[in-house]
Amino acid sequence: MKLWGGRFTKEENQEVHEFNESLSFDRRLYREDIEGSIAHVTMLARQGIVSEADRDAIIAGLEGILADIEEGKLEFTKEYEDIHSFVEAHLTERIGEAGKRLHTGRSRNDQVALDMKLYCRRQAEETAALVKDLQKALLKIMEENLETYMPGFTHLQKAQPVTLAHHVGAYFEMFERDRGRLADLNRRLNQCPLGAGALAGTTYPLDREYTAQLLGFAGPTYNSMDSVADRDYLIEFLSALSIIAMHLSRFSEEIIIWNSNEYRFVELDDAYSTGSSIMPQKKNPDIAELVRGKTGRVYGALVALLTTMKGLPLAYNKDMQEDKEMAFDAIDTVKDCLTLFTGMVSTMAFCRDAMAASARNGFTNATDAADYLVNKGVPFRDAHGIVGQLVLYCIGKGIALDDMTLEEYKAVSPVFEEDIYDAIALRTCVEKRTTIGAPGPEAMRKVLQACRARLEEN
Ligand code: ARG
Repeated sequence: MKLWGGRFTKEENQEVHEFNESLSFDRRLYREDIEGSIAHVTMLARQGIVSEADRDAIIAGLEGILADIEEGKLEFTKEYEDIHSFVEAHLTERIGEAGKRLHTGRSRNDQVALDMKLYCRRQAEETAALVKDLQKALLKIMEENLETYMPGFTHLQKAQPVTLAHHVGAYFEMFERDRGRLADLNRRLNQCPLGAGALAGTTYPLDREYTAQLLGFAGPTYNSMDSVADRDYLIEFLSALSIIAMHLSRFSEEIIIWNSNEYRFVELDDAYSTGSSIMPQKKNPDIAELVRGKTGRVYGALVALLTTMKGLPLAYNKDMQEDKEMAFDAIDTVKDCLTLFTGMVSTMAFCRDAMAASARNGFTNATDAADYLVNKGVPFRDAHGIVGQLVLYCIGKGIALDDMTLEEYKAVSPVFEEDIYDAIALRTCVEKRTTIGAPGPEAMRKVLQACRARLEEN
């Protein structure tokens, strides 16, 4: 079934058909394609280009096709080239002559550009909703762990004490920016390409403002060649998805580390872990590893499309059909990863004692010990040196700063008094960090409020 048989004298070679077809993957655009066609024919009738009777027949036919596809009554059989041919052929089969008028003043080039924009818009919204679900799960963890102490790391070396709420809060911020990026796509995607035709507009008196409005766009695109040649919005979407995947991957990596036998900061729920076929003791973080691993294919889709587009002359080229398969895969992948990841983190148990012990045993309070001396008048550089000696001493004895006797402290510096113990207690170290953005619970409570407000606002 071809839309373009007229000029041809030979049948299409079967391999050519299979190489050229896109129905096997663009079938997922059926909703967008039908929505666009309904808007197009509504406008055609309003402009007197097709009759109202034809319009009504076409819309009823399209709605029937939509319903039949959704109910599984209409199969995507192989003889059609793409979703556009499929819908138009079935329409004509169902309603006769009127069906042949639908494509007046339209090309598959502006049609596919519209379908992809509508699809991206819907998918970006769905992705943003999934990111928000994840943020809600993170917020809950934050609310419950304002005083769960753990080591903060630099270079994967224990650095200073933070709280679990603070650590998780870092990811909340990343995902907040991700939602911002997804929402931001719409600012540039928001012009409707319908009416651009093959590349040079049409000679029919189309009302492009009207179709743009019917389809929820701010207005029509301003250059018909750009309209059919532009895939920037998809590249932007894939960039936003790549950044989400990168964030999920970093978080997964941390969960894998936290779940390792050496750390034991978290215990993954049985429902979100897997076993080994040979080692009976194993409980593996496969979900986190898969989320981390799938980042590659998401980046792959972005790089593939950038590469496909880079050498294309204006306007439409068939190369652009390659915008679909990997992009669809990337969209599905990120949505699945978000769903699974949210399930995994919201069922994960935190081993608070192990976290606190790790912070306590890693000299994460060494900076606070130096600050203690500074508050007693010792210059910071000297204080740094004194605490360095103390750390060396503790390493030799296999103890923490908290375990040293006052005599041992005084042997290194007479400035130390009994209040050193309180000054370097994990609680004190964290509580003193009260500037906004710091882990102190006082600061964190304000941040939590802002986080809640951001989720409620949009
Ligand atoms: N399947 C095509 C695509 O995805 C639809 C547009 C076809 N246009 C054309 N002139 N062959 O790009």
